[in-house]
Amino acid sequence: MENDTNITWHEHRVTREERERLHGHRGCVIWFTGLSGSGKSTLANVLDHMLSARGAKSAVLDGDNVRHGLNAGRNILKETHGDEFAERFGLGFSAVDREENIRRIGAVAQLFCEAGTIALTAFISPYRVDRDRVRATMPDGDFIEVFVDTPLDVCEQRDPKGLYKKARAGEISHFTGIDDPYEAPDAPELTLKASEQTPEALAGEVIDYLVGRGILK
Ligand code: PPS
Repeated sequence: MENDTNITWHEHRVTREERERLHGHRGCVIWFTGLSGSGKSTLANVLDHMLSARGAKSAVLDGDNVRHGLNAGRNILKETHGDEFAERFGLGFSAVDREENIRRIGAVAQLFCEAGTIALTAFISPYRVDRDRVRATMPDGDFIEVFVDTPLDVCEQRDPKGLYKKARAGEISHFTGIDDPYEAPDAPELTLKASEQTPEALAGEVIDYLVGRGILK
């Protein structure tokens, strides 16, 4: 029988309010979602830079990077941990693997938030239900969903990693937007038209939102 019920939640000694006072802002999760090549990572990094320049504590969690470590794929894990382990814990791009990818990232982002940091996550996170589950695990107002709304044809034209070309040629399957779905958010806190403005202008919109909501001073 699984022995996973005898665990107890511990409250932290440093409260959220104390961290807020210390950092001069609240912790939160800014969840960028959008197609591959839509500009999520660029935006998260520009925003991270702008927040740092204001003295705020922020951190970027990025799809490609996290998939090298915490959410490594089966091929990476095979090398270090063997076939059986890789099969069980490695993540690819099936719907259930993406679900687990987002669940883990959601949990990590929440830890950053509780530590008083502004966590900037840049994952395609194509399924509404997976994003909504992360939102539901967090106190109201902590999860800020930002839809990076770049049309598929623009992303495909940019194709910074040549992945759309490979997907069209049938060399990659389950590629988001080509032969796998992307479900746009119904009611995101912000929608950014990343093909129409500079990343700096768009990151400025996010900062204005955070100031407007009293998260950032
Ligand atoms: S997800 O859907 O949220 O679990 O994906 P994510 O963790 O953000 O990883 C997306 C990056 O993985 C590369 N890649 C793919 N994307 C989509 N579909 C398929 N099949 C795929 N295979 C590899 C791609 O570089 C994505 O990076 P971004 O930065 O989004 O372009």
